[in-house]
Amino acid sequence: MIINAVQVAPKRASKETYVIFLAKGEKIEPFDVRDQWVKRALEREEFENGFGEIAILSSPEPDSPRYVCVGAGESDTATAQMWLRLIGTICRFLQNKKIARYTLALPFWYTAKPVDILRSTVVAIYASTYRFNRYITDVARIVLRPKTVTLFVPHDITAGEATGAIQVGVTIGKAADNVRELGNMPPIHMTPTVLAQEAKKVAHGKLVVKTLGPKQLKKEKMNGILAVSEGSKEDAQFIIMEYRGGKKNEKPLVFAGKAVTFDSGGISLKPSQKMDEMKFDMLGGATVIAILEVVAALNLPITVVGLVGAAENVPGDGAYRPGDIITAKNGKTIEILNTDAEGRVILADVLSYASMYKPKTVIDIATLTGACVVALGENYAGVFSRSDEIALALKKAGLASGEHMWHMPLDDDFKKNVQSTIADTRNTGVVSDGDASNAAAFLEYFTDYPWVHVDIAGTAWGGDKPYRSVGATGSHVDALVRFVEEQI
Ligand code: BES
Ligand code: MN
Ligand code: ZN
Repeated sequence: MIINAVQVAPKRASKETYVIFLAKGEKIEPFDVRDQWVKRALEREEFENGFGEIAILSSPEPDSPRYVCVGAGESDTATAQMWLRLIGTICRFLQNKKIARYTLALPFWYTAKPVDILRSTVVAIYASTYRFNRYITDVARIVLRPKTVTLFVPHDITAGEATGAIQVGVTIGKAADNVRELGNMPPIHMTPTVLAQEAKKVAHGKLVVKTLGPKQLKKEKMNGILAVSEGSKEDAQFIIMEYRGGKKNEKPLVFAGKAVTFDSGGISLKPSQKMDEMKFDMLGGATVIAILEVVAALNLPITVVGLVGAAENVPGDGAYRPGDIITAKNGKTIEILNTDAEGRVILADVLSYASMYKPKTVIDIATLTGACVVALGENYAGVFSRSDEIALALKKAGLASGEHMWHMPLDDDFKKNVQSTIADTRNTGVVSDGDASNAAAFLEYFTDYPWVHVDIAGTAWGGDKPYRSVGATGSHVDALVRFVEEQI
């Protein structure tokens, strides 16, 4: 897939496809006076410029270009999220029509900065044209990505800025593709060991990546990760990725990820309905890997560390049980009441390990609770932090990228609720209500630095949409990279 930019109205070319976004009340203007027919053709379509409405206009003359109109709805309330969906909807539509080359005419009315429009557009092109084809052997069923997408950028921006913004978008789009691919892979192939190898693959000599297996985990006293993986024949892995782009001795930003390659619930077995979706329970970890990949690829002048705890949670010989008490890496004890609340047990070790870096801030990313999905639905990631400042910075990054986040409660009542009478903590609340916050409060016992927890259980995967295909979404990579950029 080639994505490039042009800044003067594209030359009229036969068989070329021009996509034009029309806000409410806006009339179409063809690129060439010879194409006045498009106005009449659009009228015939009874096009109302409604959001996501699409009309393909083909001229009666054989050598004429094709115009595709996309309704953009109200332009004065345009948001980045709307833009992602609009671009996604049209790209997916053209992909299904097997149109491999087209020009998207980016509108003036979208008020974001031109570099942001370009970046978001490219991220959306990647997200919407991604398909999980790896296991389809019938080539006739495989729908290819477009070959060339040209962005017509009529805005006030230099050619260098335009190509720079596209390059950033491509880097993020490809990293998010990798998140989608790793997430969609079946748990028989996407094991903790395979995920650890994938983390090494994205290093490209710019990241130092180390992985610790069971023996080293034992030495590091990371009994939480070990306990969760005990019932599985797959070895647990701890992935450490370091990028030192900042000043010498700069305190790092640390990303911590949950990567449960399959979460059956363990002995506290989940019901079978939708259990297959628990192959996606490694997406927090995959997101952390992608963030490190992007930050390094863009040579950002900041020091960032990624830590991922990877394990499979299945019942089996030696599996950890309800009633067990486990000592996490920071010495705090955890009473296990439900082996399905395994993500927080893994993160207890990962967050304890992060302390060693004397971090500026730690951001953990996890598909942690079903309760977060119930509370926020599929378009908002939950943000849990005592720091309003960090939460606000994330919220802003989410708005800028169109990948939304929402600040959720975390206080001493929740913390008390996950205190155990016979150990320091318990992995479920005494009161189970508010479990997204209970889980966050539990995690706080393992932090001793500025920290924020991001629950992506609702956003990490989902059903088929006009702007994306079913499965892992790759969402929030752009938002979190924007957050990193704001920390520089
Ligand atoms: N990975 C799940 C959370 C989850 C569930 C994400 C459904 C997305 C959709 C997590 O490990 C889990 O099982 N959490 C339990 C905790 C409970 C046992 C306290 C949950 O949310 O039900
Ligand atoms: Mn679970
Ligand atoms: Zn889980």
